[in-house]
Amino acid sequence: MGIELDLKKYIEEKRNKIENFILSYFNDPIRPEILHNSVTYSLTAGGKRLRPILALASYEACGGQNDITPYAAAIEFIHTYSLIHDDLPAMDNDDLRRGKPTNHKVFGEGIAILAGDGLLTEAFTILSNPNYASISKEALLKVISEISHASGLRGMVAGQALDLISEGAEPDAEIVQFIHLKKTAALIKASVKIGAILAEASEDLINRLETYGESIGLAFQIVDDILDIEGKTEEMGKPKGSDIERGKMTYPRVFGIEKSKEKAKELIHCAIDALKVFDHSAQPLREIASYIIKRTS
Ligand code: IPE
Ligand code: IPE
Ligand code: MG
Ligand code: MG
Ligand code: MG
Repeated sequence: MGIELDLKKYIEEKRNKIENFILSYFNDPIRPEILHNSVTYSLTAGGKRLRPILALASYEACGGQNDITPYAAAIEFIHTYSLIHDDLPAMDNDDLRRGKPTNHKVFGEGIAILAGDGLLTEAFTILSNPNYASISKEALLKVISEISHASGLRGMVAGQALDLISEGAEPDAEIVQFIHLKKTAALIKASVKIGAILAEASEDLINRLETYGESIGLAFQIVDDILDIEGKTEEMGKPKGSDIERGKMTYPRVFGIEKSKEKAKELIHCAIDALKVFDHSAQPLREIASYIIKRTS
């Protein structure tokens, strides 16, 4: 891979690996059929696959040589669970996701809740299976610890809870920071970190990737908030204006749209700066960081 990287091609290649793993995982059907259909409906609805792509890119930046696709794809199971639950009437009450009616609209709330529960749990069935690649059990244990922490009570769930109870509250910089770091940046940071852990990278490189991951993760949610105001429903595949409708504690609400854009840019600079000791093998990570502030979906 040269300095000039065709990011589109790189992402396409990684995405294909993830899609193939996800499809083959469900070759053995789940009973009852409605659960199978509900889970595969959301998983195959065409997400960007940013988190698993980051895990693969980070693994390669740290010199990893194996195929770790299953472990990367497990993060997409957790992310998809979080979206199904996030859209429920008791949470953001949204009708459109990944360009299709939300899971509960098609399968009902009960099955949507269970599909989410199932995806979250199944991710750990995958992560705890040492047979997918020749990875040390010690590294896998660290990966499981990292991902469970990022998604659990001190991670994504905490962010989602504060997001929910802060609807309609006075703008508060400390609160929005906590929400964004936990509900979104935590899992993105963990995705980047597990690539490094699986490649058995040095502590210094892991720390650098942690800074990179948290910075792009926070920027990602700030841009998500901006797109809720300035984006197009057709491009995003989810409804524009959902945050305003629910009085969400977003970056633009607290800091205004221009300051939010500045902050996202600063975070991307900080992320790219943390990668300065890496060679050209980290070029995909650098380009993904830049893509995050340019994205429209
Ligand atoms: C949406 O995530 C939820 C947030 C954390 C902002 P993505 O924008 O990565 O959603 P998909 O996976 O591409 O649908
Ligand atoms: C959701 O944040 C973060 C998750 C953990 C799912 P949002 O509620 O802003 O995500 P969207 O805009 O519905 O995708
Ligand atoms: Mg939400
Ligand atoms: Mg939402
Ligand atoms: Mg949003």
